Amino acid sequence: MNTLKTFLSKTPFKGKSSILSITGVLGFSYFMYSQINNKNSSNMFGNIFLNKKAYALRNDPDFEKNQQKREFFDKVDTDSLLKKYPNLHVLNLKTIELLIGQIRDKNISMEDFRNISKRLIRIILEETFAYECTEEVIKESPLGLYKTFRNPNKFSDYIAISILRSGNSMTDEILNLAPGISIGTVMIQRDETTEKKLPIFFFEKLPGQLENKKILVMDPMLATGGSASATINILIRRGVKPTDIIFVNIISCEEGLQNLFNQFPGIRIITAIVDPYLLPNKYIAPGIGDFGDRYYGTTH
Ligand code: URA
Repeated sequence: MNTLKTFLSKTPFKGKSSILSITGVLGFSYFMYSQINNKNSSNMFGNIFLNKKAYALRNDPDFEKNQQKREFFDKVDTDSLLKKYPNLHVLNLKTIELLIGQIRDKNISMEDFRNISKRLIRIILEETFAYECTEEVIKESPLGLYKTFRNPNKFSDYIAISILRSGNSMTDEILNLAPGISIGTVMIQRDETTEKKLPIFFFEKLPGQLENKKILVMDPMLATGGSASATINILIRRGVKPTDIIFVNIISCEEGLQNLFNQFPGIRIITAIVDPYLLPNKYIAPGIGDFGDRYYGTTH
Protein backbone atom coordinates (compact mmCIF):
# COMPACT_ATOMS: atom_id res chain seq x y z
CA MET A 1 0.00 0.00 0.00
CA ASN A 2 2.87 2.34 0.92
CA THR A 3 4.59 1.58 -2.37
CA LEU A 4 1.38 2.40 -4.22
CA LYS A 5 1.02 5.68 -2.30
CA THR A 6 4.64 6.60 -3.10
CA PHE A 7 4.06 5.72 -6.75
CA LEU A 8 0.86 7.79 -6.87
CA SER A 9 2.51 10.77 -5.23
CA LYS A 10 5.03 10.76 -8.09
CA THR A 11 2.36 10.76 -10.80
CA PRO A 12 0.80 14.02 -11.99
CA PHE A 13 -2.59 12.66 -10.77
CA LYS A 14 -3.64 13.13 -7.18
CA GLY A 15 -6.60 11.92 -5.10
CA LYS A 16 -9.67 10.90 -7.06
CA SER A 17 -8.05 11.49 -10.45
CA SER A 18 -5.32 8.94 -9.68
CA ILE A 19 -7.94 6.32 -8.79
CA LEU A 20 -9.81 7.15 -11.99
CA SER A 21 -6.66 6.88 -14.10
CA ILE A 22 -5.63 3.55 -12.55
CA THR A 23 -9.14 2.17 -13.04
CA GLY A 24 -9.02 3.42 -16.61
CA VAL A 25 -5.62 1.81 -17.29
CA LEU A 26 -6.72 -1.48 -15.69
CA GLY A 27 -10.03 -1.42 -17.56
CA PHE A 28 -8.32 -0.70 -20.88
CA SER A 29 -5.72 -3.43 -20.28
CA TYR A 30 -8.45 -5.93 -19.45
CA PHE A 31 -10.38 -4.92 -22.58
CA MET A 32 -7.29 -5.36 -24.80
CA TYR A 33 -6.51 -8.69 -23.12
CA SER A 34 -10.06 -9.98 -23.68
CA GLN A 35 -10.06 -8.86 -27.32
CA ILE A 36 -6.73 -10.50 -28.08
CA ASN A 37 -7.72 -13.72 -26.34
CA ASN A 38 -11.17 -13.80 -27.84
CA LYS A 39 -11.65 -17.37 -29.05
CA ASN A 40 -13.77 -16.41 -32.00
CA SER A 41 -13.37 -14.10 -34.93
CA SER A 42 -15.61 -11.35 -33.63
CA ASN A 43 -13.09 -9.32 -31.67
CA MET A 44 -12.78 -5.65 -32.49
CA PHE A 45 -9.62 -6.24 -34.52
CA GLY A 46 -11.28 -8.55 -37.00
CA ASN A 47 -8.81 -11.33 -37.55
CA ILE A 48 -5.68 -9.30 -36.88
CA PHE A 49 -5.56 -11.03 -33.53
CA LEU A 50 -6.50 -14.58 -34.34
CA ASN A 51 -7.25 -16.97 -31.54
CA LYS A 52 -4.09 -18.13 -29.78
CA LYS A 53 -3.88 -21.46 -31.56
CA ALA A 54 -4.39 -19.99 -35.05
CA TYR A 55 -1.74 -17.39 -34.30
CA ALA A 56 0.74 -19.93 -32.93
CA LEU A 57 0.21 -22.28 -35.88
CA ARG A 58 0.57 -19.54 -38.42
CA ASN A 59 3.82 -18.35 -36.91
CA ASP A 60 5.36 -21.72 -36.13
CA PRO A 61 8.79 -21.69 -37.88
CA ASP A 62 9.06 -25.47 -37.38
CA PHE A 63 5.64 -26.17 -38.83
CA GLU A 64 6.92 -28.37 -41.69
CA LYS A 65 9.24 -30.35 -39.37
CA ASN A 66 6.65 -30.79 -36.67
CA GLN A 67 5.17 -34.21 -37.26
CA GLN A 68 3.00 -34.61 -34.17
CA LYS A 69 -0.72 -35.18 -34.66
CA ARG A 70 -2.55 -31.89 -34.69
CA GLU A 71 -6.08 -31.32 -33.47
CA PHE A 72 -8.39 -29.00 -35.33
CA PHE A 73 -11.51 -29.22 -33.20
CA ASP A 74 -12.28 -25.49 -33.01
CA LYS A 75 -15.21 -24.04 -34.90
CA VAL A 76 -15.47 -20.58 -36.43
CA ASP A 77 -18.12 -18.28 -35.00
CA THR A 78 -20.09 -17.98 -38.22
CA ASP A 79 -22.72 -15.60 -36.80
CA SER A 80 -20.16 -12.89 -36.14
CA LEU A 81 -18.65 -13.39 -39.61
CA LEU A 82 -22.08 -12.96 -41.17
CA LYS A 83 -22.58 -9.72 -39.22
CA LYS A 84 -19.19 -8.46 -40.32
CA TYR A 85 -19.71 -9.37 -43.99
CA PRO A 86 -23.33 -8.80 -45.09
CA ASN A 87 -22.55 -10.22 -48.59
CA LEU A 88 -21.37 -13.55 -47.18
CA HIS A 89 -23.58 -16.65 -47.26
CA VAL A 90 -22.47 -19.71 -45.31
CA LEU A 91 -24.56 -22.80 -46.01
CA ASN A 92 -25.38 -23.92 -42.56
CA LEU A 93 -26.82 -27.34 -43.45
CA LYS A 94 -26.42 -30.69 -41.74
CA THR A 95 -25.95 -32.39 -45.15
CA ILE A 96 -23.05 -30.08 -45.93
CA GLU A 97 -21.40 -30.77 -42.58
CA LEU A 98 -21.68 -34.52 -43.10
CA LEU A 99 -20.48 -34.54 -46.72
CA ILE A 100 -17.52 -32.30 -45.90
CA GLY A 101 -16.78 -34.54 -42.92
CA GLN A 102 -16.46 -37.41 -45.42
CA ILE A 103 -14.20 -35.72 -47.97
CA ARG A 104 -11.88 -34.41 -45.24
CA ASP A 105 -11.04 -38.04 -44.40
CA LYS A 106 -7.58 -38.78 -45.80
CA ASN A 107 -8.41 -42.47 -46.11
CA ILE A 108 -11.30 -42.30 -48.60
CA SER A 109 -10.66 -43.39 -52.19
CA MET A 110 -10.39 -40.96 -55.08
CA GLU A 111 -13.66 -42.33 -56.44
CA ASP A 112 -15.52 -41.58 -53.20
CA PHE A 113 -13.84 -38.19 -52.94
CA ARG A 114 -15.11 -37.31 -56.43
CA ASN A 115 -18.63 -38.62 -55.92
CA ILE A 116 -19.13 -36.93 -52.58
CA SER A 117 -17.60 -33.67 -53.87
CA LYS A 118 -20.06 -33.73 -56.77
CA ARG A 119 -23.01 -34.14 -54.39
CA LEU A 120 -21.66 -31.31 -52.28
CA ILE A 121 -21.09 -29.04 -55.27
CA ARG A 122 -24.60 -29.72 -56.51
CA ILE A 123 -26.07 -28.54 -53.20
CA ILE A 124 -23.86 -25.43 -53.18
CA LEU A 125 -24.87 -24.53 -56.73
CA GLU A 126 -28.56 -25.17 -56.01
CA GLU A 127 -28.26 -22.78 -53.06
CA THR A 128 -26.40 -20.23 -55.19
CA PHE A 129 -29.27 -20.11 -57.66
CA ALA A 130 -31.81 -20.17 -54.82
CA TYR A 131 -30.35 -16.88 -53.54
CA GLU A 132 -30.97 -15.49 -56.99
CA CYS A 133 -34.72 -16.20 -56.73
CA THR A 134 -35.75 -12.80 -55.50
CA GLU A 135 -39.06 -12.33 -57.31
CA GLU A 136 -42.18 -13.39 -55.45
CA VAL A 137 -44.76 -15.17 -57.64
CA ILE A 138 -48.15 -16.78 -57.09
CA LYS A 139 -48.66 -20.27 -58.54
CA GLU A 140 -51.32 -22.92 -58.28
CA SER A 141 -50.93 -26.38 -56.74
CA PRO A 142 -53.63 -29.07 -57.33
CA LEU A 143 -55.23 -27.71 -54.16
CA GLY A 144 -55.03 -23.97 -54.61
CA LEU A 145 -52.86 -20.85 -54.86
CA TYR A 146 -49.53 -20.51 -53.08
CA LYS A 147 -46.60 -18.10 -53.00
CA THR A 148 -43.09 -18.93 -54.07
CA PHE A 149 -40.03 -17.22 -55.60
CA ARG A 150 -38.48 -17.25 -59.02
CA ASN A 151 -35.19 -16.16 -60.54
CA PRO A 152 -35.87 -13.06 -62.66
CA ASN A 153 -32.82 -13.93 -64.80
CA LYS A 154 -32.34 -16.62 -67.45
CA PHE A 155 -29.43 -19.07 -67.25
CA SER A 156 -28.04 -17.36 -70.36
CA ASP A 157 -27.67 -14.18 -68.26
CA TYR A 158 -24.98 -16.00 -66.24
CA ILE A 159 -21.38 -16.88 -66.95
CA ALA A 160 -19.50 -19.37 -64.80
CA ILE A 161 -15.75 -18.90 -64.54
CA SER A 162 -13.72 -21.89 -63.47
CA ILE A 163 -10.37 -21.18 -61.83
CA LEU A 164 -8.28 -24.11 -63.05
CA ARG A 165 -7.62 -26.75 -62.00
CA SER A 166 -9.93 -27.29 -59.02
CA GLY A 167 -12.66 -24.99 -60.34
CA ASN A 168 -13.28 -27.49 -63.15
CA SER A 169 -14.73 -29.92 -60.61
CA MET A 170 -17.63 -27.47 -60.39
CA THR A 171 -18.26 -27.05 -64.13
CA ASP A 172 -19.78 -30.55 -64.60
CA GLU A 173 -22.42 -29.84 -61.99
CA ILE A 174 -23.20 -26.36 -63.21
CA LEU A 175 -23.81 -27.67 -66.72
CA ASN A 176 -26.33 -30.18 -65.31
CA LEU A 177 -28.08 -27.46 -63.37
CA ALA A 178 -27.90 -24.52 -65.75
CA PRO A 179 -27.54 -25.97 -69.28
CA GLY A 180 -27.73 -22.52 -70.93
CA ILE A 181 -24.78 -21.04 -69.06
CA SER A 182 -21.50 -19.99 -70.73
CA ILE A 183 -18.27 -21.19 -69.14
CA GLY A 184 -15.06 -19.19 -69.00
CA THR A 185 -11.72 -20.51 -67.80
CA VAL A 186 -8.86 -18.81 -66.01
CA MET A 187 -5.66 -20.59 -65.13
CA ILE A 188 -3.98 -19.08 -62.11
CA GLN A 189 -1.92 -21.21 -59.78
CA ARG A 190 -0.23 -20.67 -56.47
CA ASP A 191 3.53 -20.53 -56.74
CA GLU A 192 4.30 -23.44 -54.41
CA THR A 193 8.01 -22.56 -54.41
CA THR A 194 7.47 -19.25 -52.58
CA GLU A 195 6.53 -18.68 -48.95
CA LYS A 196 3.55 -16.45 -49.72
CA LYS A 197 2.27 -18.80 -52.47
CA LEU A 198 1.58 -15.81 -54.67
CA PRO A 199 -0.66 -16.45 -57.70
CA ILE A 200 0.91 -16.89 -61.15
CA PHE A 201 -1.28 -16.14 -64.16
CA PHE A 202 -1.07 -18.64 -67.04
CA PHE A 203 -4.06 -18.22 -69.29
CA GLU A 204 -7.66 -17.02 -69.70
CA LYS A 205 -10.46 -17.91 -72.12
CA LEU A 206 -13.56 -15.85 -71.43
CA PRO A 207 -16.76 -15.11 -73.35
CA GLY A 208 -16.48 -11.90 -75.40
CA GLN A 209 -19.40 -10.13 -73.76
CA LEU A 210 -19.06 -9.92 -69.96
CA GLU A 211 -20.70 -6.59 -69.19
CA ASN A 212 -24.14 -6.82 -67.59
CA LYS A 213 -23.75 -10.57 -67.10
CA LYS A 214 -23.91 -12.23 -63.72
CA ILE A 215 -20.63 -13.98 -63.09
CA LEU A 216 -20.13 -17.02 -60.88
CA VAL A 217 -16.43 -17.41 -60.08
CA MET A 218 -15.85 -21.00 -58.98
CA ASP A 219 -13.02 -22.36 -56.87
CA PRO A 220 -13.54 -25.04 -54.20
CA MET A 221 -10.90 -23.69 -51.77
CA LEU A 222 -10.54 -20.07 -50.61
CA ALA A 223 -7.23 -19.91 -48.72
CA THR A 224 -5.33 -16.61 -49.11
CA GLY A 225 -7.70 -15.43 -51.83
CA GLY A 226 -4.79 -14.73 -54.22
CA SER A 227 -6.15 -16.63 -57.25
CA ALA A 228 -9.70 -15.43 -56.67
CA SER A 229 -8.69 -11.79 -56.43
CA ALA A 230 -6.49 -12.05 -59.56
CA THR A 231 -9.50 -13.53 -61.42
CA ILE A 232 -11.89 -10.85 -60.14
CA ASN A 233 -9.43 -8.14 -61.20
CA ILE A 234 -9.42 -9.58 -64.74
CA LEU A 235 -13.23 -9.44 -64.76
CA ILE A 236 -13.35 -5.87 -63.44
CA ARG A 237 -10.83 -4.76 -66.10
CA ARG A 238 -13.24 -6.29 -68.64
CA GLY A 239 -16.11 -4.09 -67.39
CA VAL A 240 -17.85 -6.43 -64.91
CA LYS A 241 -19.36 -4.68 -61.88
CA PRO A 242 -18.29 -6.20 -58.53
CA THR A 243 -21.99 -6.38 -57.56
CA ASP A 244 -22.51 -8.81 -60.47
CA ILE A 245 -19.84 -11.21 -59.18
CA ILE A 246 -20.61 -14.19 -56.94
CA PHE A 247 -17.66 -16.23 -55.69
CA VAL A 248 -18.81 -19.84 -55.18
CA ASN A 249 -16.74 -22.05 -52.98
CA ILE A 250 -16.72 -25.17 -50.77
CA ILE A 251 -14.23 -24.41 -47.97
CA SER A 252 -13.04 -20.94 -47.00
CA CYS A 253 -11.14 -19.39 -44.11
CA GLU A 254 -11.37 -15.95 -42.59
CA GLU A 255 -8.13 -14.65 -44.14
CA GLY A 256 -9.41 -15.36 -47.66
CA LEU A 257 -12.84 -13.86 -46.95
CA GLN A 258 -11.27 -10.75 -45.47
CA ASN A 259 -8.87 -10.36 -48.38
CA LEU A 260 -11.67 -10.57 -50.96
CA PHE A 261 -14.18 -8.38 -49.12
CA ASN A 262 -11.51 -5.72 -48.39
CA GLN A 263 -10.64 -5.49 -52.06
CA PHE A 264 -14.11 -5.97 -53.51
CA PRO A 265 -16.78 -5.07 -50.94
CA GLY A 266 -19.56 -5.35 -53.54
CA ILE A 267 -19.08 -9.02 -54.46
CA ARG A 268 -21.05 -11.85 -52.87
CA ILE A 269 -19.41 -15.00 -51.53
CA ILE A 270 -21.18 -18.32 -51.11
CA THR A 271 -19.22 -20.83 -49.10
CA ALA A 272 -20.29 -24.16 -47.65
CA ILE A 273 -18.10 -23.90 -44.55
CA VAL A 274 -15.51 -21.56 -42.98
CA ASP A 275 -12.58 -23.45 -41.46
CA PRO A 276 -10.71 -22.00 -38.49
CA TYR A 277 -7.09 -22.11 -39.68
CA LEU A 278 -4.82 -21.02 -42.49
CA LEU A 279 -1.51 -22.81 -41.95
CA PRO A 280 1.96 -21.37 -42.67
CA ASN A 281 2.03 -23.42 -45.90
CA LYS A 282 -1.23 -21.64 -46.86
CA TYR A 283 -3.35 -24.75 -46.61
CA ILE A 284 -6.68 -24.52 -44.85
CA ALA A 285 -7.14 -26.65 -41.71
CA PRO A 286 -8.73 -29.00 -40.95
CA GLY A 287 -9.42 -28.57 -44.70
CA ILE A 288 -9.06 -31.46 -47.10
CA GLY A 289 -5.47 -31.06 -48.33
CA ASP A 290 -5.00 -30.22 -52.00
CA PHE A 291 -8.47 -30.37 -53.56
CA GLY A 292 -7.24 -30.68 -57.17
CA ASP A 293 -4.82 -33.50 -56.32
CA ARG A 294 -7.47 -35.48 -54.46
CA TYR A 295 -10.21 -34.88 -57.08
CA TYR A 296 -8.01 -35.63 -60.10
CA GLY A 297 -5.96 -38.38 -58.45
CA THR A 298 -2.58 -36.67 -58.70
CA THR A 299 -1.68 -36.96 -55.01
CA HIS A 300 2.00 -37.85 -54.63
N1 URA B 1 -5.95 -25.12 -52.18
C1 URA B 1 -6.24 -26.38 -51.78
O1 URA B 1 -6.45 -27.26 -52.61
N2 URA B 1 -6.28 -26.66 -50.47
C2 URA B 1 -6.07 -25.72 -49.52
O2 URA B 1 -6.14 -26.03 -48.33
C3 URA B 1 -5.78 -24.40 -49.95
C4 URA B 1 -5.73 -24.12 -51.28
